[in-house]
Amino acid sequence: MNTPPKAKTFLIKTWGCQMNVYDSARMADVLTVMGYVQTDDLLTADLVIFNTCHIREKASVKLFSELGRLHKVHRARPDQGAGALIAVAGCVAQAGGEEIATRVPYVDMIFGPQTYHLLPEMITRALRKKGVVLNTDFPPEPKFDFLPQAHGATGVSAFLAIQEGCDQFCSYCVVPYTRGMEYSRSFASILQEADTLIAGGAKELTLLGQNVNAYRDGQTGQGLAELLARLAERPELLRLRYMTSHPLSMDDELIEAHGAIPKLMPFLHLPIQSGSDKILEAMNRKHKAEVYLRVVEKLRAARPDLALSSDFIVGFPGETEEDFEATMQLAREVTYAQAFSFKYSRRPGTPAAAMKNQIPEEVKEERLAQLQALLRDQQTAFNMACAGQSLPVLFDGLSDRAGFVFGRTPYLQAARAPGGAELIGQVRNVKITHAAPNSLDGILE
Ligand code: SAH
Ligand code: SF4
Ligand code: F3S
Repeated sequence: MNTPPKAKTFLIKTWGCQMNVYDSARMADVLTVMGYVQTDDLLTADLVIFNTCHIREKASVKLFSELGRLHKVHRARPDQGAGALIAVAGCVAQAGGEEIATRVPYVDMIFGPQTYHLLPEMITRALRKKGVVLNTDFPPEPKFDFLPQAHGATGVSAFLAIQEGCDQFCSYCVVPYTRGMEYSRSFASILQEADTLIAGGAKELTLLGQNVNAYRDGQTGQGLAELLARLAERPELLRLRYMTSHPLSMDDELIEAHGAIPKLMPFLHLPIQSGSDKILEAMNRKHKAEVYLRVVEKLRAARPDLALSSDFIVGFPGETEEDFEATMQLAREVTYAQAFSFKYSRRPGTPAAAMKNQIPEEVKEERLAQLQALLRDQQTAFNMACAGQSLPVLFDGLSDRAGFVFGRTPYLQAARAPGGAELIGQVRNVKITHAAPNSLDGILE
């Protein structure tokens, strides 16, 4: 009797933002339809995809060391890795293209974020092993219309991309070049995907986009506030979030939605980058610090318990001590529950990379340490203030600690309580008994 052929296996390793996490899940859907099965064994995987990030230099450097490691692993196989495909996807692929092929000749496929619906034909071509398959086009058809729907269990908390690309062209940023122009999906296709995710067990949706609050249905003109209101009508959905927003696209309708939609969680990631108007202008952010502060004020008036998160860049070309102090001052004024901060990284092809007045590395490091200390203190204070309070936690998995379940508060804090798998997918009030800078512990009420 013939044994049935063994299913081919794939492994996707993901770097970068939530959009990449979402994209990797969609690529997994395409591969599943093709009959591939997911594995976490690098040695035996028939297809390895690195889904990469180009945002800062460090992120892309990592890719090449990973490729080298994989090459070594493959050389230990009886077939020397000849039977497996290696693919580089994502933003480094989009930006690097042919250069990657020259530098790493054993890569079989290099393709950008807009081509994932074309995976089946790209794989067929790559299997012929007649040279690298390269696709960094921005195809005229949006990939969303051609990607298969999510398969099976989707997890309690799911991402849903509603918008992609960015037209802002901040002078330091590669995203408009790697993701292309802004594109909004239709209301109908988003609602359809939301229902598939709900059927797979999703209780919380985070709507994603590089400039998510610029979302607008091309046909009907409906925006993000209307989309959130429609999704909130789904009884199975308990929580809604969205990211990442640009302060300039934060219109009054969306601000009001924060007061009007209880399922919209009181936690918003709203990047400011710098507190100095001079630097904001050089960054091409197109607004002054005051505009951001006014948006924050309006949001807090609409939803008094709103907590904020942000992104900061320190050491942008031309940043003086005074400019940096303005950033510190803004952070003190807003007071964040959590925030990300980065040293400015010079990205090839962006206008800021060509600016003359680059800041020395030691100065960047010193400023980053100062800002991070302030943001860490703010985060710690925010968490400590939760001790003794009762917070609703959406449980989404078992904790590493036996007998405990893990979940998130409305402010995305990690929270843990004694309990079992029956709690997963439920929102329960947890009395916080112990608060730490990065997590909370409590007991079910
Ligand atoms: N609006 C985007 C931002 C993407 S990049 C979004 O949808 O998420 C995430 C953050 O990386 C930015 O907010 C910025 O703070 C940081 N960043 C982008 N380019 C950078 C660079 N060249 N150097 C350092 N940090 C950078
Ligand atoms: Fe980059 Fe600016 Fe667009 Fe964000 S808004 S993706 S930082 S260009
Ligand atoms: Fe990185 Fe591309 Fe996201 S550069 S941050 S993976 S859009």
